[in-house]
Amino acid sequence: MSEKKGIILSGMRPTGLLHIGHLSVLENWAALQKDYQCYYMVADWHALTSDYDDTSRLPAQREMMLLDWLAAGLEPENAVMFVQSGVKAHAELSLLLGMNMPLAWLERVPTYKDQIEQLGKQGKDIRTYGFLGYPLLMAADILVYRANLVPVGEDQGAHLEFSRELVRRFHHLYGREIFPEPLPLYAKIPSLPGTDGRKMSKSYHNDIPLSAPPALVTEKVKTMITDPARIRKTDLGHPEICSVSRYQSIYNEGQAAEIQSACRSGQIGCAECKKRLTERLNQKLAPILERRERYSQNPGWLREICADGNAKAGQAAAATMELVRAAMNL
Ligand code: TRP
Ligand code: SF4
Repeated sequence: MSEKKGIILSGMRPTGLLHIGHLSVLENWAALQKDYQCYYMVADWHALTSDYDDTSRLPAQREMMLLDWLAAGLEPENAVMFVQSGVKAHAELSLLLGMNMPLAWLERVPTYKDQIEQLGKQGKDIRTYGFLGYPLLMAADILVYRANLVPVGEDQGAHLEFSRELVRRFHHLYGREIFPEPLPLYAKIPSLPGTDGRKMSKSYHNDIPLSAPPALVTEKVKTMITDPARIRKTDLGHPEICSVSRYQSIYNEGQAAEIQSACRSGQIGCAECKKRLTERLNQKLAPILERRERYSQNPGWLREICADGNAKAGQAAAATMELVRAAMNL
């Protein structure tokens, strides 16, 4: 492992089946696993910061997430996949960092007031100690592996900045340099609308799951709304307002330009256009589906991968905690 270029940590909250909008994130994670020591975490404690009341689906959701990751091409021999609640050192570090954490730092993280308001509108009260501590726990997740790089979406930028401030404060207070200042690694993630043009989300039923079999992909693409001005094939189309065209650009790069110009000049019908997208998507999802089949045939395998990941992550985290406790005279 010493020949690796650095340490990477990233995580996702297990909120349900992943959809094709997550594909580019996972492709990026998979691309990093050979060159870096990667830790990929199912952030189940973070899921509790907003969904603390009904936890009954957590076990299934953790499992679905791991399965989605493996299906997407993360390899247990190259990356450590683990569950946050399986490595208690995250909690210890979060507690210790919290001792010297100015409250104002947490309160001014932009997502804090935002989310309270957003979820408040949906009748959910997240004015909890746990939710306030979201960025603190996230910093602990990263620092406990002394990670250098954190592949995340740009929406997590403020959280990363917060982690770096914490590192400087810790070093200043305790006089020992333990942690690298973690940098975000922003991947180019194309924004993908749902099949109805709104944001893709399972709760809107406008998503295409990563595990969708061909028949489901066909059905989902069929329901996609196209340029309403097109009734006959010969009507001139406006691909710029059509979600199918957006998908073509992302998943069917080789044919997208040709399809779009044929649409503009009334030479391709929406049915044909959708058929070509469906074929392409199914081609892309086929290896994912195949790996998913393979892994789900043997549930013991999944448990082993997770136990092994938790053990490896736990070891790395324990080594960091030794240094932290020593620095703090604990
Ligand atoms: N907050 C991240 C998200 O919602 C998930 C997460 C938890 C995470 N801990 C992390 C991401 C540590 C990167 C590093 O996407
Ligand atoms: Fe959209 Fe394709 Fe129909 Fe053009 S041909 S409107 S891009 S579905």
